[in-house]
Amino acid sequence: MTTAADGAGTWQDDAARDLLNLGGRLALLVRGEGSHVWDADGIRYLDFLGGIAVNALGHAHPVFVQAVAEQARTLAHVSNYFATPQQLELAARLKRLAGTGEGGHVFFANSGSEANETAIKLARLHAHATGKSTILSLNGAFHGRTMGSLSLTPKAAYQDPFRPLLPDVAHIDPTMDALEAAIDDSVAALFVEPIQGEAGVVPLPAGFLRRARELTTAHGALLIVDEVQTGVGRTGAWFAFQHEGIVPDAMSLAKGIAAGFPLGALVTFGDHDAFYPGTHNSTFGGNPLATAVGNAVLAEIEDGGLLAAVTERGAQLGRRSQGCRWSPARVGPAC
Ligand SMILES: Cc1ncc(COP(=O)(O)O)c(C=O)c1O
Repeated sequence: MTTAADGAGTWQDDAARDLLNLGGRLALLVRGEGSHVWDADGIRYLDFLGGIAVNALGHAHPVFVQAVAEQARTLAHVSNYFATPQQLELAARLKRLAGTGEGGHVFFANSGSEANETAIKLARLHAHATGKSTILSLNGAFHGRTMGSLSLTPKAAYQDPFRPLLPDVAHIDPTMDALEAAIDDSVAALFVEPIQGEAGVVPLPAGFLRRARELTTAHGALLIVDEVQTGVGRTGAWFAFQHEGIVPDAMSLAKGIAAGFPLGALVTFGDHDAFYPGTHNSTFGGNPLATAVGNAVLAEIEDGGLLAAVTERGAQLGRRSQGCRWSPARVGPAC
């Protein structure tokens, strides 16, 4: 077993003494290259986890390394008092890839939870402007662990230790019947993941997103798509909602958007975002270092033909994994 840096015990001893007791002790990883990572004992692993759907280009990709190094040398951080060319370029790129049209806007954050916090504030602004109240999310959803995003993540083990949560939040089953019954004029926003990762990588029922779009439009509610895990090419389209031919009112992004550099974003569509100066912001969000990496990563995905490769690999894995279900409690084959 690997000894700790001071030679006095194992790295697990150090972790138990110095880190909050929140898990994260599977191995002590020290290096990555392409699809592999190495632990401190020199054991090589084929990395199927990809940093939980983050390392879109694999480890130590030259495009990623160069973008970090060049931008760090030039201008790393300026705060939200200033714009930078990198931030403007990434916002325009995301709007183009998402197909927001002229009306959409982008807010940069540092994580998926923060992107969803921004989306919750978007929903609240909409609720106040329209006299609506309820924010809906789906049973089985995972939207994050900050207090707002946790309120939309209806899992007792995650929520119960931290009650009270946000008021005016309700959860429905991800079924067509539940959807039909739930959307009325009191609903300000519906949050959905096109594929529920935490629930076991379960896609929404066929037609669910399209019907959700029809119903939310009919009742003046926002449809907010959490693409933190499904976005940035992971389903073979840039964003999973694009398979359904719908346009949401907003989508949250993080994970693969900068392939390992912390970056999140909320992208709005149309003219539904009622933010104005003072209603939201972030010190680090959208700094030139993170957004330069985001630009380099998205350009590499776009120019490198990665989306077609994802579709091919997805079909291959799908064929070979019929009947399998991912289980957090199990390491190794789950079928
Ligand atoms: C769908 C979804 N939304 C939000 C989050 C939260 O993102 P983060 O961990 O970057 O805060 C996650 C994280 O796994 C996620 O899968």
